[in-house]
Amino acid sequence: MSEQDGFVRVGGLAEVPDGEIRLFEHVSGRVAVAHIENELFAFGDECTHEGCSLAEGELDEVADTVVCPCHGSAFALRDGEPVDGPARDPVPVYPVRVRDGWIEVRLEIGGQA
Ligand code: FES
Repeated sequence: MSEQDGFVRVGGLAEVPDGEIRLFEHVSGRVAVAHIENELFAFGDECTHEGCSLAEGELDEVADTVVCPCHGSAFALRDGEPVDGPARDPVPVYPVRVRDGWIEVRLEIGGQA
């Protein structure tokens, strides 16, 4: 992994096929990356309800949400806000980009990582 402009290289684009989510481990924590058509979304892996892994959840490619596998909370991929319960708090979302076939995520926002 390398750091450039605050972005951290977490893995290869080829590791996240269209329509899927992958979990990447980093010293700052776990980040999930979802791929919908030509767009990537990076967000905290831990559901704010009881901590299940959102990378193991389901993508709703029409609503741009991820649905937690444990109790069905849905989070908007663009801002992390819960759009369906039982979770009430948002998950963090992170800027993400692709450089030379690598996924890079800026994990530190406002001092939180
Ligand atoms: S842990 Fe995700 S909805 Fe309960």
